[in-house]
Amino acid sequence: MKLTSEFYIKNFLIQHFDEVPSTNDLAKDLIKNKQIFANHIILADQQNKGRGRLDRQWLSPFGNLYFSLVLSRPKISHIQNIHTLSLLTNLSLNQLITNLALTNNFNLNIQNKWPNDLLIEKHKIAGILLENLFINNNDEFIIIGVGVNIDNSPAQTNFLAGNLKQFNIVISPVDFLKNFIDHFENNWLIWQQFGFKNFRQLWLNNAYKLNDFIEIKIDDKIISGKFIDLDDCGNLILLDSSQQKIEICFGDVS
Ligand code: BTN
Repeated sequence: MKLTSEFYIKNFLIQHFDEVPSTNDLAKDLIKNKQIFANHIILADQQNKGRGRLDRQWLSPFGNLYFSLVLSRPKISHIQNIHTLSLLTNLSLNQLITNLALTNNFNLNIQNKWPNDLLIEKHKIAGILLENLFINNNDEFIIIGVGVNIDNSPAQTNFLAGNLKQFNIVISPVDFLKNFIDHFENNWLIWQQFGFKNFRQLWLNNAYKLNDFIEIKIDDKIISGKFIDLDDCGNLILLDSSQQKIEICFGDVS
């Protein structure tokens, strides 16, 4: 594991490594050792123990983007729904890729798949792993791990994978990260003031399977219904066969 460079993008200090086990795990270790603080990004060319949600593996070959963004939890009591940062990250990725496509004069069908995937033409392009870490029972750090398939599509077991190159978007991982920070920083400032509610409709505008029947897997249970809404806290609202609303805050859309 070698640190190859260190630089700022806006207010964020980036540490760029060649290969790490997992940028989220490295970020946590560095936070615990007080070597990094908020507004820090750990970026890696490759990961050999990349992790996805629900203890899944995230294959991380050279050519794609792997980073973990470290924030400190705002000490504002009305903002409790930290998991909506996953949706905010998803939206920032969507805005960025939409812009990249538009500057090349084409449109792509880019969708937000609850809770944390980004799809292009139904192919999974990016995933987000949101974690938190308490230090001294007082300071809470949020780690937003993001993997974007820029150049290749590692085999995925649970969803069809795709990559930006296949959709004619050619960009380097570092340039993608720079653009991401532009979008994310603006959104993060608004989120800190108002929470997720300002982004709810934007997220829904490009939601995968909205108004469609879906199945959500929660552990070994499957809940099915019509996906009708997302609330201000980022929970998915389903309508079941007896027209009852069900609020889902955790699970996997299948
Ligand atoms: C998922 O879709 O399940 C989430 C995938 C998150 C992968 C990223 S890559 C950078 C960061 N480091 C990790 O080990 N995982 C996240």
